[in-house]
Amino acid sequence: MDKVLARGSGSTTGRRRSRVALVSAAAGVALVAASVTLATSASAGTTLGASAAEKGRYFGTAVAAYKLSDATYVGILNREFNMVTPENEMKWDATEPSQNQFNYTNADRIVSHAQANGMRVRGHALAWHSQQPGWAQNLSGTALRQAMVNHITRVATHYKGKIYAWDVVNEAFADSGGVRRDSNLQRTGDDWIEVAFRTARAADPGAKLCYNDYNTDNWTWAKTQAVYNMVRDFKARGVPIDCVGLQSHFNSGSPYPGNYRTTLENFAALGVDVQITELDIEGSGTTQATTYGNVVKDCLAVSRCTGITVWGIRDSDSWRASGTPLLFDGNGNKKPAYTAVLDALNAGGTTPPPPTTTPPPTSAPPTTPPPTTPPPSGNGCTASLVTNQWQGGFVTTVRVTAGATALNGWAVALTLPAGASLVNTWNAQPSATSGAVTFRNVSYNGQVGAGTTTEFGFQGNGTAPGGTPTCTAG
Ligand code: G3I
Repeated sequence: MDKVLARGSGSTTGRRRSRVALVSAAAGVALVAASVTLATSASAGTTLGASAAEKGRYFGTAVAAYKLSDATYVGILNREFNMVTPENEMKWDATEPSQNQFNYTNADRIVSHAQANGMRVRGHALAWHSQQPGWAQNLSGTALRQAMVNHITRVATHYKGKIYAWDVVNEAFADSGGVRRDSNLQRTGDDWIEVAFRTARAADPGAKLCYNDYNTDNWTWAKTQAVYNMVRDFKARGVPIDCVGLQSHFNSGSPYPGNYRTTLENFAALGVDVQITELDIEGSGTTQATTYGNVVKDCLAVSRCTGITVWGIRDSDSWRASGTPLLFDGNGNKKPAYTAVLDALNAGGTTPPPPTTTPPPTSAPPTTPPPTTPPPSGNGCTASLVTNQWQGGFVTTVRVTAGATALNGWAVALTLPAGASLVNTWNAQPSATSGAVTFRNVSYNGQVGAGTTTEFGFQGNGTAPGGTPTCTAG
C-alpha cells in the first residue's frame, strides 16, 4: 500500500461533524434517547446484519480463513454479519500461486461457511497490482494481459453464482494527480480495466461488478474525480460496471470527510450501486463512535448505498490493530462504535430512509439464468457461444445443452477464423489450436442430464469464432 498513514493516532479522526453520538450522552440523556429509539422503530434489530436488512442493506466483514477455528471470532461473525469478504484468500497470489494451477482451498472454506450460515459473499479481488504471485509480477505485455484474462475467467467461473459482488479491479488510480497508478497491469494498455470487467461479466453474469479503491471518499480529491470520470465513461460506453466500492479506511492522515455523503450520492447518480467495502476508523471512545455513526447515516441516506463491510471483526483482527479501528475489542466485546452503528441502523426519523422509487436490490442471491437455447431434436445437444473480444484476443464461454436424452459424452465443433489461435482451454479437450477445432468433454463433465447444461471455455489470440457451433452427443 502506498497510502500516507498515520498509525495508532488513537484520538483524532480529523474533520468531523458536530453530531453527538447516543453512546456519549450523559446517563439521563441516554435513557431518553433509548426510549425515543424504541418508540420510533419498534422492530429495530439487535444485530448489525438484521438491522441493516431492515433498511434493505447488508452488513459485512472481512474474514480470514484461518480464524474460522476461533470460537469467539466465529460466534461474533455468525451472530452479527450477513455478508463476508475473504480478506486475502481470493487474491491472485492465493488462488493462482503457479500459472494455471488454481488453489481455492481457503477461499472455498470461507464461501462454504458463508453459505452454511446464510451470509452472502463479496469477492475480492480479481485484478490488482498488489498481492500478485511472483510469476505474474514477472510478466508484461500480451503475456500478462492474457494471464489476467485467464485468471479472471477461471476464478469468476469457479465461484459463478456464489458471489454477490466482485471487486473486479482494485486500486488502479494513483493517490494524486487524478491519473492511473503505474503498474505492470497498467503498462499492458489503458484498456486493461474495461477488459477485466468484460471478462468478469462473461464468466459470471449474475455477479455485480465493482471498481474498488481507497482515498476516494472526499469528493474534492483528484483521485475521487478520476474514478468518477472513469465510471461515467464506462456507463456511457456500455462497459459492464455495476458498483463502486469505497474502501473507507479512515485515520488522522486520511480522515472521514464532511462531504462523504455527497461522494456516495454522486457515484450513485451515475447509475451504479455504491458499497462501503473495507470500513475501519482509527481511534477510540466517543470520537470513533460518532464517526462510525455518521458513516452509517450517510449510507442510509443514499438509496443506492447497498451495504457496509468493516475490515475485520475485533481490533486484534485488523491490519491496523494498533489503531483499534473496529467495532469489537480484542476480547470480542462490543465497543461504543458498535452501539453507534447499531443505533444509526435502527434510527427511525433521524436519518432519511432510502427513497422507495429506487429501492436497493433485494437480498436474493444471484441466479444462473436458464438456458436460452431450446432443446435440440437432432444430434442430442446444442451449443451456444458467449464471447468477450478485445483488440487482439478473446475469451469464449461455450454452453452445451442436452436434449430430451441425457448425454454420456459430447463434442462441439467450430472453426476459428484465419489468424486466430487457442491459448488456453478449460473444462474441455481441443483437437487443434487453429482452424477447425473439436472440443470434447473431459472426465468430469461428459454426463449432462436431459435438458441441463454444462460449460467450457477457451481463450485465444486474434478474432473469436462466431455463429452456432455443432454439438454432437457421445
Ligand atoms: O500468511 C503469511 C504468513 O505465512 C507469513 O508468516 C506472514 C509474514 O509477513 O505473512 C502472512 O501474509 C500476510 C497476509 O496479510 C495474511 O496475514 C502478508 O504478509 C500481508 O501483507 C497481508 O496483508 C494484507 C494486505 O491486504 C496486503 O496488501 C492484509 O491482511 C489485508 O487486510 C489487506 O487488505 C487490503 C485490501 O485487500 C485492499 N485494500 C486495502 C486493504 C488493507 O491493506
